Amino acid sequence: MLDHLGQTKRTHHCGELRPEHVGQTVTLMGWVNSYRDHGSLLFVHLRDRAGITQVVFDEERDAELLARARQARSEFVLAVTGTCIARDEKNFNPNMTTGEIEVLATELKVLNDAQTPPFEIDNCRAAEDLRLKYRYLDLRRPEMQHNFRMRHQLALATRRVLDAQGFYEIETPILTKSTPEGARDYLVPARTAPGKFFALPQSPQLFKQLLMISGMERYFQIARCFRDEDLRADRQPEFTQIDIEMSFVQPEDIFNTIEPLIVECFKVAGLEPPATPFLRMPYNDAMNRFGSDKPDLRFGTEFVDLSEQFAGGPFPVFADAVKKGGAIKALVVPGAATWSRKQFDEIVEHAKKYGAAGLAYIQVQEGESKSALTKFLGADGINAVIAAAGAKVGDAILMIGGKWDLACESLGQVRLEIGRREKLINEGENKLLWVVDFPMFEYHDGDGRWYAKHHPFTSPVDDDIENLEGDLGAVRAKAYDLVFNGSELGGGSIRIHRSDVQAKIFKALGLSESEAREKFGFFLDALSYGTPPHGGIALGLDRLTMLFAGAKSLRDVIAFPKVASGSDLMTDSPSTVAPEQLAELKIKSLA
Ligand code: AMO
Repeated sequence: MLDHLGQTKRTHHCGELRPEHVGQTVTLMGWVNSYRDHGSLLFVHLRDRAGITQVVFDEERDAELLARARQARSEFVLAVTGTCIARDEKNFNPNMTTGEIEVLATELKVLNDAQTPPFEIDNCRAAEDLRLKYRYLDLRRPEMQHNFRMRHQLALATRRVLDAQGFYEIETPILTKSTPEGARDYLVPARTAPGKFFALPQSPQLFKQLLMISGMERYFQIARCFRDEDLRADRQPEFTQIDIEMSFVQPEDIFNTIEPLIVECFKVAGLEPPATPFLRMPYNDAMNRFGSDKPDLRFGTEFVDLSEQFAGGPFPVFADAVKKGGAIKALVVPGAATWSRKQFDEIVEHAKKYGAAGLAYIQVQEGESKSALTKFLGADGINAVIAAAGAKVGDAILMIGGKWDLACESLGQVRLEIGRREKLINEGENKLLWVVDFPMFEYHDGDGRWYAKHHPFTSPVDDDIENLEGDLGAVRAKAYDLVFNGSELGGGSIRIHRSDVQAKIFKALGLSESEAREKFGFFLDALSYGTPPHGGIALGLDRLTMLFAGAKSLRDVIAFPKVASGSDLMTDSPSTVAPEQLAELKIKSLA
């Protein structure tokens, strides 16, 4: 028999009671986390989102109450009234915040029963697919409750900090037109315009720029974004940005707005806030030194450039790479001279996975060092490389030659792998930096054309505007990323606010005037009505939460996430729809 809640009121949460509450009559409400039946005594661990309290049913005090409580099973919902009593010191439970007290029950309401859950909420070892199918149960786990508390607090801190800086929170449409972030769009067929589609926003990019043209000056939104792209641990098809745009600003103004927000997030998370201003590092430096546009600075191991050393030399692969304008990048790994052949082979394979043609290495030893390059360079040549790399006995030098970006990126991945394997990453440290001066364009060999590296509304650096008709590879953008422990937390740019510059960018991207008008006509019109200089940024709220909550996957900080196939295991979506629905939309499925 279930009881009604009636007028029973909860007096405390299950994580709240402490020795100072001893003697008080309290009412707790929550779920049965676990129970231990000792015959004349029944111990129930009652759980709510604040924690767990031990409730005791004692046969000597009330045999009928004990008998009723004995019916309760895991995840039953109870309201318990009783007296908060001190535990004997020998029964203290240091693993519970309420471990010095317990509640001696005097009344019990069984508010609901529960089927046996498919996995234990407490101490859950179930596979993730099962947890996602029963996500509402998974979310009862204390780790998850912690993650969502953190997410809420970060969102609140965002609103607090931005409000104090004069930002307006403004919503932008979800049913909209394709936006320029470069992923695949999710499309929504329009019933009222058969054959036409809305696109879900990949970000509110154009709308926030329009709000600057509207004179809103400072906008932010905790905005849902949709991108139909392949998922990874740090990507979801539906995710949330802290989206920001400001008028009359340069990059420094954006940094000065975001840094206090990040400092506040650290405080909210109970962490030592980072010193401001954060480090700024040009993109070229980040690539040249760490082989990444999001360098993890929690460990050193920077690259050495050996291009000069190998230029015109006897090792044909490297000499050739330099001759073609490429680079030879090297990493000196302390203590790696004694690595096994297998260890080196694994690292070579790792480099190849990221596009390197190969990886050469020297094991620096007393006397003659070991390397496959000795047969090209001779012992003296090897010693010269060792000297140029600044390596010492016991080190290994790992070298990748090729196109500059490929050599940097693949060796950057090797650096990260070695960081993980050799435990070089200082996990206790938090390293933030701004990567600045990104190139404006990137060339895609596949279709032989230039693409905007950020998006086509990003402003080139003033001095580089004249290069728009020349070497596109040399044009720098007023674009920046915020990098946190090797993850891209956010990215943004100063935008183009002049129609003439925008036209030049479209031309450089090979977009004809009519194509540009078809895609972004409304926006180009708006630009011509007195657009203020403006810029902004978007921070991934999911990524921010993941980092601060110490979660391993974005799925652990999104209440109802998708899995790698892009589906939702709980609602079993996407799913088929009734033929009438398709007919109404004038759509025929070919599947
Ligand atoms: P960008 O595409 O760099 O910029 O995105 C900004 C930040 O959003 C987060 N993010 C994601 N998080 C989870 N899953 C995804 N699939 C995903 N994609 C991006 C990242 C990223 O740094 N409109 C521009 C911003 C601007 O220029 O102001 C934009 O969307 O943390």
